[in-house]
Formats: sequence, C-alpha cells, structure tokens
Amino acid sequence: MASSRSSQNRRDTGESSRPAHVPVLLKEVLHFLQLEPGLTVVDGTVGAAGHSREIARQIAPSGLLIGIDRDALMLDIAAHQLSGLSSRLVQASYAELPQVLARLAIPAVDRILLDLGLSSDQLADESRGFSFSSAGPLDLRFDATQGEPASELVARLGEQELAGIFERFGEEPHSLRFARNLVAFRARRPIRTARDLAEAVAGGGGKVAPRGSHRRGGRHPATRVFQALRIAVNHELEQLETALHGGLYQCLKPGGIVVVISFHSLEDRLVKQAFRESKSWQLLSPKPITASPAEQRFNPRSRSARLRAAKKLLGPKQN
Ligand SMILES: C[S@@+](CC[C@H](N)C(=O)[O-])C[C@H]1O[C@@H](n2cnc3c(N)ncnc32)[C@H](O)[C@@H]1O
Repeated sequence: MASSRSSQNRRDTGESSRPAHVPVLLKEVLHFLQLEPGLTVVDGTVGAAGHSREIARQIAPSGLLIGIDRDALMLDIAAHQLSGLSSRLVQASYAELPQVLARLAIPAVDRILLDLGLSSDQLADESRGFSFSSAGPLDLRFDATQGEPASELVARLGEQELAGIFERFGEEPHSLRFARNLVAFRARRPIRTARDLAEAVAGGGGKVAPRGSHRRGGRHPATRVFQALRIAVNHELEQLETALHGGLYQCLKPGGIVVVISFHSLEDRLVKQAFRESKSWQLLSPKPITASPAEQRFNPRSRSARLRAAKKLLGPKQN
C-alpha cells in the first residue's frame, strides 16, 4: 500500500487533469447507495472521481469520501475533481481495504463502491499500452511500480501458457491460434508496444488470423487478448475475490451497502456468487442492472456494465 493524502493540499493538475472518463450508471449507483449527509463512503476504484464527486457532494458537509486507486495518475485527476470536498485519497488496492481503514483509524464505513476495470483516461494514455493503437510500451499495469509489465509476460511465457491466459481471462475462442501467432511474431522481433501485440495476435509477421476472427462484431481481434493480459498482470480476479470474501464485509457497518459494477462475465460471475451464496448479504438487485439504451448510445463503455448491490445483514440470513 502506498501513500494517503487529503484533498486539501494536493498539487493542482490543471487543465490536463480534465477527465475523459464518463461515469457509468451514475444515477443507478446513487439510487442504490442511498446517500445522506454525514456518511463515510469508500470508492475503492476512484479513477477520475466521476462517481466520487457526486457521492462527496451528497454526503457533505459532515461526511467523508475515501477514494482508493492503484494508479497514482488517476489519483492526481481525482484530487483535482474532488478539490473543496471532504475526501482522503489513498494509493492502494481495494483488496487492501482493511489495512487502508486501519491506517486512517476508521473502524468501519457506511457504503462501498467498486467500479471495476479501466478508465477512459488510462485507455487514452499512450504510455501505458492499454489501447491497440498505442505506440508506447506494452505495460498494462494499473500500478507500474508493482508486478510484471505485459511485455515481459508475453516474452517469457510459452505457447500453452499464453493460450491458457487468453482462454481463462479473455474467454477467447481462438486462444491457441492467437498464442501461436504471438510466438511466431516474437521469434522475428520482440513485442514491445501495444501496437506490436495487436499486430502479432492478428497474424502479423507471416501468420494469418483465423477466418472470421477479424472485427468480430466490429471488435479488433485482439480485444480479448488485451483484456486477458491486463487481468493477468494486475491479478484482477484475485483482487476481487479477496475483497468479496472478506474485506468488503469486514469493513462495512451492519446495514451498510456495497455496489459493484463489472464489465465482463468473469467478474460479474464472482460478484453474483459472492452475494447470492453468502448468508451475510441481502441482495438489493436480484437481477444485474444494465445501462439504459440512451446511456448506451451516449457512452458506449456502458454497454457491458452490470451493477449489483447488496446490504450487509445484521445477522445471518434465514433460508
Ligand atoms: C472504471 S475506472 C473507475 C472510474 C470512476 N468510477 C469514475 O467515475 O471516474 C476503474 C479504476 O479502478 C482502478 N483499479 C483497478 N483495479 C483496482 C484495484 N484492485 N484497486 C484499486 N483500484 C483499482 C483503475 O486504476 C481505474 O482507475
């Protein structure tokens, strides 16, 4: 876990901090969180503070927003967005929430939000490699000081291991073909940038992509491979499982509410199972909440969003 800072004394990052990210399902998040002045709320994936800014306003003047993100650059944007509002920002993983709260001497909180995955600002950052067209290094880590960049992972692993990652974390039907393409490509030249990876997967360097795999449904053939590698280098599913099987429950006050937005079925399945199977949660959204057609038109990122909300029960649920 890295540093914590209050929103009063951070550097003003100015115009360059204006976020590109549009918060997803904002109205629905606010509906399920049932906010009121004085609450203490954790945004475990604060990002560009699109949700957090509105939350901080609704719990003012006596409430406190605790914004967590693994990415220091996102925390800079969040700091700018939250200036003048009561907040504490911490560079950490939401999986470390119990330790974060212990350091802040806060025993438990009223609400927790997780809006999983990647922000549009990270996608737009050429130096991170999140976008196919990026000529910057293929990194894909949220916190570039921890773990292994994706360029090292794709250089190190064998064909079968790569195919396993593409299948498990990307649900990629052509996982073995794409892994083979990648291995053939890297034998000719190293995969250093996101653009290299996109080219390698699509069969650049002599190999041909499988029939029908190009632009499936308008998507680049490497879409699922990028997702899989990002999940792998950030250990995203392990982080989510850690939070779902302990941290969230432990850190919420009885009667407290958690809202989770996920963007692919691997995450959504974990959230659904954790809330359904545990006797500690009352489901507030028996079915996942999805974005309205109008929101999907306005913000295409919202198309895959699934929101689930649950309340921490005072005692075990009676079946
Ligand atoms: C979809 S964005 C959040 C956007 C935010 N709700 C907003 O409206 O601006 C997800 C954010 O979560 C961060 N993130 C991903 N995994 C994380 C983790 N395990 N712990 C903390 N932050 C994480 C990413 O760095 C990214 O900034």
